[in-house]
Amino acid sequence: MIELDMSNVWGELSLPQLLETEKEVFAAHQLLAEGKGPGNDFIGWLDLPVMEDTAEMIRIKQAAERIRQDSDVLVVIGIGGSYLGPRAAIELLRGQNHNLKNSDPQIFFAGNNLSTRAYQELCELLEGKDFSLNIISKSGTTTEPAIATRALRWLLERRYGTEKARKRTYVTTDPANGALRQMANEEGWESFIIPPNVGGRFSVLTAVGLLPMAVAGIDITAMMRGAAKAAKELDVRSFENPAWQYAALRNLQYRAGKAMELLCFYEPDARMLGGWWQQLFGESEGKDGKGLFPVTAEFTADLHSLGQMIQQGQRNIFETVLRFAPPKNKTTIEVDWKDLDGLNYLEGRTLDFVEEKAFLGTLSAHVDGGVPVIPISFGEICEETIGELFYFFQLSCGISAYMLGVNPFNQPGVEFYKRNMFKLLGKPGY
Ligand code: PA5
Repeated sequence: MIELDMSNVWGELSLPQLLETEKEVFAAHQLLAEGKGPGNDFIGWLDLPVMEDTAEMIRIKQAAERIRQDSDVLVVIGIGGSYLGPRAAIELLRGQNHNLKNSDPQIFFAGNNLSTRAYQELCELLEGKDFSLNIISKSGTTTEPAIATRALRWLLERRYGTEKARKRTYVTTDPANGALRQMANEEGWESFIIPPNVGGRFSVLTAVGLLPMAVAGIDITAMMRGAAKAAKELDVRSFENPAWQYAALRNLQYRAGKAMELLCFYEPDARMLGGWWQQLFGESEGKDGKGLFPVTAEFTADLHSLGQMIQQGQRNIFETVLRFAPPKNKTTIEVDWKDLDGLNYLEGRTLDFVEEKAFLGTLSAHVDGGVPVIPISFGEICEETIGELFYFFQLSCGISAYMLGVNPFNQPGVEFYKRNMFKLLGKPGY
């Protein structure tokens, strides 16, 4: 059950102001649910969550099992949602150091940058290891993953020969169109689908996220069940719906002059989830000269770097804090007979007890400093919860963007850097 705490947002806002947005939120939610808003041919993600495995999910699990049997490493090639979605889920559920554990294949990500160093390091890491490729791209022509695909498929072929390399190449792309679909068909690569009506940043619950997650040992059925539960629970047209609360509050903060939303979390493993959230809201809302700038911070680490800015810098931010249930396995603080650091007063306390107090102390300091704070509780970190979380943020984003008056599902601005780069590279036609 997702719970949003609204008690620390009323600095410049009032409850009547929130309630006044009811018609607006309702209209935005209806536009989305009825498929009548701008970009309505990209709302397929609303219906992705399922309680039982689909045929595609069964095939994903079978492919994941093969990869787990024959590979030490899965290299996931993709950028944008094809990179941030799977990496966010894997790091949050298996830990950011999952590649150091021996229980599951290592997952390396490629095609999300143009760094020579990163590519050469990847090649070094693959030496002496059995590996497979999961190439993820809707178009197949995005520069970064396309360059990585060229390089890595030849590396794979040189290592295993054409026939065996073919069996180690898995593709996730559009079912009918695009360069990668054509390559998959011509080369005979096993392929999975990104539905045409699902854009990159809304694709984590398709094969885009599910295949790498399953290879990493994540229970994708439980994740989809969590998302399906959220889809049902959040299909409510009232302010009891936490997606309504979140969408309305962030729009009200924006209208009250806040320029940035800072997503904070006290779990280091949530860093990549922060990246996924940043793309979801940034690419969906940042257009027509509008939108909150989405930034992220890992507390308590970043309290020792950004904390000063948050407390006393320009008063143009508000915070959204991800909260998860306390861990079941506790770690206790021990006594030190010399007590030079003065921490003996915490003897016998658990680490999560200290974390909770750090959260509460930070919350009241930031609120006192003029930064509204919206804590959102998601329950324990597990597949179901993360499925719920993904769906919650996607739905909130769709509603919020319609309230803002923008099309959440396009990204025309991304073309500008590409156009300049292609011109400088001498691409024909630019
Ligand atoms: O959200 C989006 O649609 C984008 O971020 C894309 O995911 C990204 O540009 C990659 O595109 P493609 O899947 O065509 O390689």
